[in-house]
Formats: sequence, structure tokens, C-alpha cells
Amino acid sequence: MGDYRIAILPGDGTGREVAIEASKILNTISDKTNIGFDLTEIACGGQLYKETGKEWAEGSFEFCRDESDAIFLGAIGHPGAFLPNGDLAGGSVILGLRSGLDLYANVRPVKLFNGVMHKVHGKFRQIWEPEMVDMTILRENTEGLYHSLLKRASNRAQGLEDYVVPEVEFPDLQGEVVYDPRPISSHGTERLVRMGFEIAKTRNGAPSDGVSRVSCIDKSNVTRGCQLFRRTFDQVASNYTGISTDYGYIDAFTQWLTRTPEHYDVVVTSNMFGDIATDLAAVLQGGMGMAGSGNIGDDHAFFEPVHGSSPKYAGMNKVNPIASINSVQMMMDWLGRKNGSQELLDVASSIETCVAQHLAEGKYLTYDLGGDSSCSQVGDMITQRLAKTLSEN
Ligand code: IPM
Ligand code: MG
Repeated sequence: MGDYRIAILPGDGTGREVAIEASKILNTISDKTNIGFDLTEIACGGQLYKETGKEWAEGSFEFCRDESDAIFLGAIGHPGAFLPNGDLAGGSVILGLRSGLDLYANVRPVKLFNGVMHKVHGKFRQIWEPEMVDMTILRENTEGLYHSLLKRASNRAQGLEDYVVPEVEFPDLQGEVVYDPRPISSHGTERLVRMGFEIAKTRNGAPSDGVSRVSCIDKSNVTRGCQLFRRTFDQVASNYTGISTDYGYIDAFTQWLTRTPEHYDVVVTSNMFGDIATDLAAVLQGGMGMAGSGNIGDDHAFFEPVHGSSPKYAGMNKVNPIASINSVQMMMDWLGRKNGSQELLDVASSIETCVAQHLAEGKYLTYDLGGDSSCSQVGDMITQRLAKTLSEN
């Protein structure tokens, strides 16, 4: 038995390929350090649902909750795979875990490494230049516009009764009317924003001026929920006097994010805004193939690349595994902080260094970064580099 139990959920499409690369990294850490990982793979997703009528085997949610220290998820989403109620097949996994394990912050770092092309202006950051893009976006992960879908998915994952959206009438509207509530709570906002400020304390500030800054992104000129979000943000911010704050409306933010990303250090926002903004932000770090993430709560967490299952590349050993390797890096950092283990924190920084060196060298890159290496080749090269680094430490 290893020291840490990791559930590996490959899921659908290219998620299955990148999960192999994530597992290689974990196994290398087990081989080369005193840290042990005991990996358990759980089949899941939309394709499995299509084949078997189940999104994952019974007891899988409980296994993730009670018998794992951290979870890695490849990707969920298979073409045409929907449940009879119209919800995404595989939703029990990704959304069921987010809501059922109360993983209230979706933490999505956006960093442009040396050697990676910025996909808007096509420039590479040179080693002597200051960072252009290095921010962390926190997306609220349990409420907002996803709330009812999250509740349905987590109730299903736990075998609970179906969640029914409260009835609301819109007598002024005509024809069929469908309604997704967007509840935002002070509790949900407060804990998200607090995590944002805590993360800001661990970073070096915004690339442009080195100022530690948390930006509140909302649409408080329009929605009541966003007004509560901003009010709660201000209350939390008053406890963090050393960190500066600013505000933006989500529409304007998409523009500033693209034009002057170097201004941003930590960004906090609501669920759907964060979903959309982080796909855009991935363009600033070389594309979705680079974007890792952590779905983080107080007791549990799962880590996943932000990219989906990319069905058109599935089975081709083609996609970039670095988003997944960066997600494993985040897993090591989270486990290290949670368990007070300096060794895990050191492993996390070794992974980051190895990814940075690999990219700066630029010899083995997947198609999205302009190379012709395969997914497994890039995974092997980074794994070998990590093995060497860990043996030397
Ligand atoms: C993401 C994805 C998911 C989401 C989908 C697969 C349900 O787009 O993690 O960003 O909408 O949250
Ligand atoms: Mg998304």
C-alpha cells in the first residue's frame, strides 16, 4: 500500500490517453522518492454510459470520497452521449464530484512558459523578458448557473432522489419556457474569495508591476447575484490589507484579459463566467493543451486538464499531455500543503521546473505547440527528466 491513494478516472476520448501520462508521472514519483502512490483506475464517462448504461460502477463516488486522498480526471464527454433527462452522460463524475464533494473552487492557473507561443499575438516570451501571462483564475464551482445541473448530477452519483428545480412562472413570456436558476450565496462566495486571497499570498504578484492583486469579476451592474458576490468580496478583502483589489465586469474583462493579461494576479469569478473566461485565458498560455486545473474543497480535491475529451483526436496519441502533467503538479502542491509535507511541495516544484525546461528546450512538442511529437513521447520525455531530477535531489 502506498502513502497516498489516488483515484485515476480516465473518462472519455483523449482523457484516457492523458491519464496514462499523468499516471507515469505519479509512478515515477513513487519510484524515485519516499512518497508512495497507490493508483486505482475507475472506468467512467459518456462512452461507458453508451456501452453499459452506467456512468461509472456503483460505489465509485463513495470510493472517491472515502478511499482516495486525491483524484485525477482525464475528461468527460462522448459525442451524442446524453441521459434520458437530457443531461450530459458522465456528469455524475465531473459534476457529481464537484458538487457532492463540495469542491467549491475551480482553480485554473494561466501561465505562459518560455518557449510557448502566445496564441493571440504569436510572440514567444524570451528568457530575459518579464512574464507576459501568469495569473490564477478561481471559478466558483458549486452554485451559479450550474447549480441545478450540479445538484442533479451529485444526487445521481450518490443514489439520492432526483433534484427538482423550484417552479417559477413567467406569465409575460410566450411559448415554451425553460429556466435555469442562478443562485449565488454569501457562503459560497466567501469561501471562494478567501481561497483567492490565500493563493495571492503564495504568489509573486502580477507580472506587470509585482503587486499582489485579487480581481473581482462579475456583472454587478446587472444581476443581484453578482451584487452579493461583490459585496461579499469586499467583506473578505477587508481582512487582507496587504493585497490590493480591483473590479471588472465580465464583458469588459474578456477584453482586458486579452489585451493586458500581465495586469492580473488572482481573479475570482462565478461559475459560468469562469467556465467561459478560462477557455479564453488558455489561448494566452499556448492553448488548452497547457491548461491544468484543480477542483478544490476543504477536504477533497480532483485535478483535471481544462480541455475536454477532444473526440476528433481520440485514439490518435496526439494531444498535449502537459495540461495533465500540470494538473498532477497542482495535486502534489495541494497534498503537500494539506499534509504539511515539504517533500511533496518539493516534488511539485520539480515537476514545474521539468515542464519549464522541457518547453524551453522545445525539442519534443505536440502539434498544438508546433511540433510533431506524440502524446506519449512528450509524457515520456518529461517523466524521464523528472526521474533524473528526483534522483539527483
Ligand atoms: C469545464 C468543462 C465542464 C464545465 C463540462 C465538461 C461540463 O467545460 O470543466 O470547464 O462546463 O464545467
Ligand atoms: Mg469549460
